Amino acid sequence: MTDQGFREIIFSINGKQRTLYIDIRSSLLEVLRNELGLTGAKEGCGVGECGACSVLVDDVLVDSCIYLAIWADGKAIRTIEGEAKKGKLSKVQQSYVKEGAVQCGFCTPGFIMASTSFTEKNKGESVTEDEIRKAHAGNLCRCTGYQNILKAVEKSIEP
Ligand code: FES
Ligand code: FES
Repeated sequence: MTDQGFREIIFSINGKQRTLYIDIRSSLLEVLRNELGLTGAKEGCGVGECGACSVLVDDVLVDSCIYLAIWADGKAIRTIEGEAKKGKLSKVQQSYVKEGAVQCGFCTPGFIMASTSFTEKNKGESVTEDEIRKAHAGNLCRCTGYQNILKAVEKSIEP
């Protein structure tokens, strides 16, 4: 491929500025996993249906498998790798562990990013089970451990 098919992008990844020269056809998921070694976000369906690849872009939840990496230019990306701070799991992560909301773990990074987005938006608010379900409607768990995930999100939103 000629240089025409490549472009430089500058973005922040888990708080650190990065400059990459990327194939303009690459998805954000490919860049995260293959260029940056951030393998927390998973490729499940690859077509925006399962949420296993969920990350936050400027704090908005996106399916990184259908989000072009060039769209991330100038933006702030958060992935599961940045959620624990100084070795301490985030409140959402701690709730998942406590409520046993992880089975094989394949969907877990994506679910946690969806839960993080939801809990940050609703901090201090009282939320319904229905609202939690809707906020995670784009995330599928093949192990079907949805009840414990619901409980984990409820707990992590408590003050
Ligand atoms: S891998 Fe992206 S939504 Fe399924
Ligand atoms: S824990 Fe196995 S896919 Fe969700």
